[in-house]
Amino acid sequence: MKITTRKPQETSAVGKALARHLQPGDIILLVGDLGSGKTTFVKGVAAGLRLKPDAVHSPTFVLMNIYEGRLPLFHFDLYRLDPGEQMNGLGLDEFLYGDGVALVEWADRMGGWTPREYLRLDLTHGGEEKRTLVLKAKGARYRQLLENVKAAFR
Ligand SMILES: Nc1ncnc2c1ncn2[C@@H]1O[C@H](COP(=O)(O)OP(=O)(O)O)[C@@H](O)[C@H]1O
Ligand SMILES: [Mg+2]
Repeated sequence: MKITTRKPQETSAVGKALARHLQPGDIILLVGDLGSGKTTFVKGVAAGLRLKPDAVHSPTFVLMNIYEGRLPLFHFDLYRLDPGEQMNGLGLDEFLYGDGVALVEWADRMGGWTPREYLRLDLTHGGEEKRTLVLKAKGARYRQLLENVKAAFR
């Protein structure tokens, strides 16, 4: 599924639409350069889960923030993780397969910690306020989730 957005609110609206269909244990991987809109998308998800989007910012000094809404939202940002660096000790499993939903910025840095199944969002800059969002599903649960999101944009 490919969507072109032309302002930040349109990108967060996609996140908000996704949030309606999220279930405990869901994992969303976000991949794209700085400024491509990953955090903007997470704010939309946060709004959709009825928690304060203003609370959402890329965790600067830590690798994860937790927000409580309809479901707990575990917001990871692996920007400061060296590619290939071991993620051992972060206790990632506990969050990825727990009672909340996990959104991971810079998920291309997960290496061997990449989950087997997930929804992946690739974001690219199209200059100015244009961004291209491509959603791909891996695994049956995420194909279902993607169908639900598609329906919201038909
Ligand atoms: N269509 C758009 N979608 C998302 N962000 C946009 C868009 N147009 C402009 N922006 C701006 O681009 C920046 C994206 O920043 P952010 O979401 O923090 O990116 P990232 O987390 O990928 O580094 C914000 O300043 C946002 O206002
Ligand atoms: Mg960010």
